[in-house]
Amino acid sequence: MGNKKYFSSLADRLKPNPIRRLSTLINRPGIISFAGGVPSPETFPYNEIAEISSRLVYEKGSEVLQYGVTRGNRQLIEYLVQEMQNRKVETKAEEFILTSGSQQGLDLVSRLLIDPGDVVLVELPSYIGGTYALNNAGAELVGIEMAMDGLEPSIVKEKVLELRKQGRKVKLIYTIPNFQNPSGITLSLQKRKDLLALASELDLLILEDDPYGELYFSAPPPPPIKSFDKEGRVIYLGSFSKVLTPGLRTAWIVANSEFVANIELIKESADLCSSMLDQAIVAECGRQGLINKRLGVLREFYQIRCQSMLQALKENAPANTVWTQPTGGLFVWVELANQEIDTTKLLTQAVETGVAYVPGQPFYVNEGKANSLRLAFSKETPERISQGIKTLCSLL
Ligand SMILES: Cc1ncc(COP(=O)(O)O)c(C=O)c1O
Repeated sequence: MGNKKYFSSLADRLKPNPIRRLSTLINRPGIISFAGGVPSPETFPYNEIAEISSRLVYEKGSEVLQYGVTRGNRQLIEYLVQEMQNRKVETKAEEFILTSGSQQGLDLVSRLLIDPGDVVLVELPSYIGGTYALNNAGAELVGIEMAMDGLEPSIVKEKVLELRKQGRKVKLIYTIPNFQNPSGITLSLQKRKDLLALASELDLLILEDDPYGELYFSAPPPPPIKSFDKEGRVIYLGSFSKVLTPGLRTAWIVANSEFVANIELIKESADLCSSMLDQAIVAECGRQGLINKRLGVLREFYQIRCQSMLQALKENAPANTVWTQPTGGLFVWVELANQEIDTTKLLTQAVETGVAYVPGQPFYVNEGKANSLRLAFSKETPERISQGIKTLCSLL
């Protein structure tokens, strides 16, 4: 419309999220959907949140309906110091800042660290919200394919040295170590240590995005990379979205206090502070022990759904199809044997037969694999998962 001349260079980098573009298709009512990567609303604690929020408004309205400090609710930060200790990460309150979801954390960290042209290494495939935040800040994203136990540090090293030889500035590794979105892959303990040692050797930072770590099925994943970090190289993002509810838009960053102080300055101009009411509700849920009390139920809820999906794939998937075996989280990643199949093109047909998924290609920062797809097992019941996978497999 001729307004482009007014826009900053950021506008040239903006890309519409391809999943949003597919949303009318994948959200068609009545279909069995493996598309939405969101927690099941069946797991939300409606009564508890209704009671807590109304009490907070009546008893502490002047505080929770007011602006607050940019760093976030002090009581919630105290809770998180303990929570991080449970995750084997020793921290202090000044190393925290609360954000409006981890998505805001990804945006703020990207803005703090990235100058246009800086290279960030990302997993192939990776979370679109993360790669887009980095892209918006001007990062050049270089993808590295994961093994079934995550990024291979020796390949990362080779890549960094090769890029540096070309004069490129490589600054950061972005990883989602637990039950990764979109692949469901978990980074092994040894690789966590090796990746951190490599970051130290090559003077890189690590952005560790961990919204799913608590959603394990049988055994917890290895401790966060942050737990081994003695040099302050790891910026850790945690979120209440998947263990409580994403509508409360409450998450946190843990990092060296110098990073946090600067993130605070950027956040001040982004939104002054995150919602005080949301933070106070989450703090009260934490104080009452509600979050940790519910984890057992959540883990079992998603484990049953995941098992149903894996079993249905085993019984119905065409020969030589490969899929991940997640031990937590919300996602299974599938790669079809036939490289000619483009799952983006196939989606319309899949929806017509009554089942939706997300094509794999948008999760890659390179040309990617058109024959891959992400299946979320969070939304549908185990019975509908079996039925939907059967339908999908017969189409494949
Ligand atoms: C890997 C990853 N990081 C960050 C987010 C953002 O979560 P939120 O902003 O709700 O904390 C998501 C959401 O799905 C995610 O999958």
